[in-house]
Amino acid sequence: MSMPFAAWAKQVQADMEVVLDRHLPPPSTSPAKLHQAMRYAVLDGGKRVRPLLVFAAGAVFDAPTDALERAAAAVEMIHAYSLVHDDLPCMDDDDLRRGKPTVHRQYDEATALLVGDALQTQAFLVLSAGALGSDRKVAMLSQLAQAAGSCGMCGGQAIDLDAVGIALSLPELEQMHRMKTGALLHASVLLGALAGKSLHSSEQAALDAYADAIGLAFQVVDDILDATADSATLGKTAGKDAAQNKPTYVSILGLQPSLALAEKLRQDAHHALQPFGEAAVRLRELADLIVQRKA
Ligand code: IPE
Ligand code: IPE
Ligand code: MG
Ligand code: MG
Ligand code: MG
Repeated sequence: MSMPFAAWAKQVQADMEVVLDRHLPPPSTSPAKLHQAMRYAVLDGGKRVRPLLVFAAGAVFDAPTDALERAAAAVEMIHAYSLVHDDLPCMDDDDLRRGKPTVHRQYDEATALLVGDALQTQAFLVLSAGALGSDRKVAMLSQLAQAAGSCGMCGGQAIDLDAVGIALSLPELEQMHRMKTGALLHASVLLGALAGKSLHSSEQAALDAYADAIGLAFQVVDDILDATADSATLGKTAGKDAAQNKPTYVSILGLQPSLALAEKLRQDAHHALQPFGEAAVRLRELADLIVQRKA
């Protein structure tokens, strides 16, 4: 009998604290303020959904632990950087993140900008090292770069900022969500798999279908929670999307259809995993977590 999902997730989250600590420069390294702020942004907080996806996908392909740890740390650093910049006054202007003051509130805006820049390069540094063969590492670096860049997360953020107060069509909204949030979740799944082996096209297609479904579902649920949960539960300011006039699934589709869409995407994700059988149990459980989470 394998470990229950909750215990497995707790273990990965605890392990990631150690792994991230190991792959970040020590707090005393000069410039100390920058390194302390990087650690403030990354350590001790967050659900670690992207690392969980890396480990769950890695389990399907028997990936070695060090490669999974590097991939998980890299994607979480990119994610943490995206949150630090997302919270800046020039973007969503948020004071609270992961139950703590945002980086620009705790430090200052220039530091927050540099924390994001430095976390991004640190991610690629961590991923470029380790014992995997160069071909595999280049494939992983390329995957992460694409997901983080102007055709992925950054591009999605650009669309988000330009869309304030604008009535996006449903296809436009979906594209924005797939880019700003789906892309990094997709990369998490692919990185975990690539840490194990180079993928056959049928494996790649099945993982793409799974990752696309959970990637979109994640931001649909983020929009739902922004409208329905409270700040203490979320660890970030609730109700921001409506206050800032952001186009979201809730504002465009309404709450009930958004919930129904998330559930449909959960089922699509399960369906996509059929070829992997029992080996994909954690990926299945993560699809459930992403859709059924309360924070
Ligand atoms: C929040 O991501 C930002 C989005 C991409 C929707 P998470 O909900 O994964 O945030 P943490 O990592 O748990 O803080
Ligand atoms: C942010 O989306 C997605 C990122 C790329 C960081 P949101 O702006 O909805 O994320 P939260 O709600 O502030 O976490
Ligand atoms: Mg935002
Ligand atoms: Mg935000
Ligand atoms: Mg949000």
